Formats: sequence, C-alpha cells, structure tokens
Amino acid sequence: MKVLVIGGAGYIGSHVARCFADHGIQVTIYDNLSTGTTDNLFPDYVFHQADILDYTTLVSVMREGFDAVVHLAAAKAAGESMVKPEKYSLQNITGTLNILNAACEAGISRLVFSSSAAIYGEPAYLPIDEAHPKQPANYYGFTKLEIERFLEWYDRLKGLKFAALRYFNAAGYDPEGRITGLEKNPANLVPVIMEVAIGRRPHLDVFGTDYPTRDGSGVRDYIHVTDLADAHYRALLYLMDRGESFAVNLGSEQGSSVLEILEAARRITGREIPARVTGRRPGDPATLVASSAEAKRLLGWEAHYSDMETILATSWKAYTSRLGNP
Ligand code: WQD
Repeated sequence: MKVLVIGGAGYIGSHVARCFADHGIQVTIYDNLSTGTTDNLFPDYVFHQADILDYTTLVSVMREGFDAVVHLAAAKAAGESMVKPEKYSLQNITGTLNILNAACEAGISRLVFSSSAAIYGEPAYLPIDEAHPKQPANYYGFTKLEIERFLEWYDRLKGLKFAALRYFNAAGYDPEGRITGLEKNPANLVPVIMEVAIGRRPHLDVFGTDYPTRDGSGVRDYIHVTDLADAHYRALLYLMDRGESFAVNLGSEQGSSVLEILEAARRITGREIPARVTGRRPGDPATLVASSAEAKRLLGWEAHYSDMETILATSWKAYTSRLGNP
C-alpha cells in the first residue's frame, strides 16, 4: 500500500507516518517544514518539501499514485486563530480544498483527515460523543468543522471516502524514542511544561484556577500520539476494506487537570517547573472529555499509552534526548 502523509514531518504526522511504515506501508511525506522538522524523517520515506498552497506541485505529487492521503497539515493554535483568522483561512480551508481537488484530479478516493474536538465548543454534556452539538468556540474549531462539511459534499459528489478523526488533546512521544523532533513555539500545555522543565521558558502560566473542576484548573482528555497513530492506521484499513466515510472522537476518556499534570511533571522530571496563576484564557471551557465508544465499535481501537505517566515520561525523554539533561 502507498500512502501520502501531508504534514508527516510534524509532531502528530511523524508518529502517524512511522506507524504506517512499521506496518509495511510505503510512506511519502509532503511537508513545507513550517512547523515540521527533518529530524522526524526516516530513510524509508520519500520526502517532498512543498506547500499545500502550491496546487501544481500537490497535483504532480499525487499523480505518483497513492491508495490514500492522510492530511495533518493544519495550523492548530486555538488562541492564535482568534487573532489571525486569515492564517487559518488560508492554511486550513484553502489548503485543504487544494488537497481535495488535487486528490480528485489524481484519482485518489480515500482521505484520512485530522479533525478536532474543537469543533464541539462548550460542552452541553460529558463525555462528548459524536452526536454532541457542534458549536466551535474558536476559529480553529470552525475551520475543522467547515472542512468536515466539505468532505461530506466531496463524498456525495466525487466519491471521496473520508475518515474524520476528532482528536482531543494530543500529547506524548514515541515510547521507543525514535521520534524526538520538538515542536516549534508550542502553545499546548504539555510541551510548554516540558520547555519550562528543560529551561527553555522561565515559568508556566496556569490559565485560571477558578473553574468548576476538582481543583479549579482546566480538565482535558489527553491522548498519546502513538494511540492516535494507531487510530489512523485502523481508519485507513477501514476505508480500504469498507469504503464508507465516518467521523469518530479520539480521546482517552480520562480527564486530567492542569495542576495535576504540573505536579506529575515535577515528580517525573525532578525539576521545579515554576508556575504562576493568571486569568482564564478566553474561550477555554472548564472540562472537555471524550467518549471514544464509536472508535472502539467501528475500528476496534483502544488507547494503551494515554495514561499521564506515559505521556509525561515519553515527552521528557524526547526533550532531554534533544536538549540534554542539564
Ligand atoms: C490545555 C489546558 C488550558 C497552556 C487544544 C487545541 C488544539 C486541539 C485540542 C487538536 C487548558 C491550560 C494551556 C498554558 C495553561 N488539538 N493551559 N497554560 O486549549 O484544550 O485545545 O488541543 O486539534 O490543539 O484546541 O489545549 O494544551 O492549549 O490547553 O494553563 O500555557 O491547559 O487553559 O485548560 P486546548 P491546550
């Protein structure tokens, strides 16, 4: 099987690409290295450094012939999307439409799409299942929901079968230590904590401790990237075997709070990790936890690495292997 992994030099994309290659899939990476890094590439991949906004190159590469395309090349900082919506319109909407059109032009009829829990917005109930109302609270989530709507039309009109995988909070690193490319200027909690622990940042800002949660800080559902990668592999097989489009949540179904993660990180890294409490970040809900029952039912998928100990230990191993353990 030959698969084009768009964004495959990035944090999640590199784990998906490695999982595919481990299963004997021929992997081609398409990545502009704006946030990805060649540190995440392996000799058994074909690599094209190119941009999804470069339609001509996109079509030309797709014409090499692939059984499926996996699209993980999106801007994903929810806060930034509220300040720079034009960046998210261009990369996430225009870029994805280029991918859909190029796939149709190249005769590729299967797409695995990196969607997001951000399409749901403020929880009306918990855990969040796929039937939950979809009212994104930020422009990033809006772009992901709009793309899912485009996918429904491309399925109906062009026969493009898709898997929309709605990630909750992706975290952790390859337990075998093969992938250690660090995210550039991360905004997500776990890599920010790692940067403080390793000495790249002076402190962590805790965005509010006055939420209606067990310790007042935000609760999220953290899913290990290796579990996410396995879900992409299973989604690919489902599209190859069954050829029906679907959308599923991918989460651990466990909630962890900011303060719990901070304490666990201090214990695991042995570092002080200075932190200060600031005001809430606009748009942040108190709690987001997934129901992944549909992914279990449809794909036989289960999370195995998504306990917080493994997430933090594998993250710390990646940061210290890249930056040393001063
Ligand atoms: C987690 C918790 C913050 C940073 C993101 C994005 C997107 C999506 C889901 C895939 C919250 C708190 C954070 C910090 C903090 N993934 N926090 N200090 O906002 O849940 O959503 O993941 O599509 O990437 O929407 O993730 O890591 O930013 O925040 O206190 O410096 O940590 O308030 O409670 P979020 P996050």
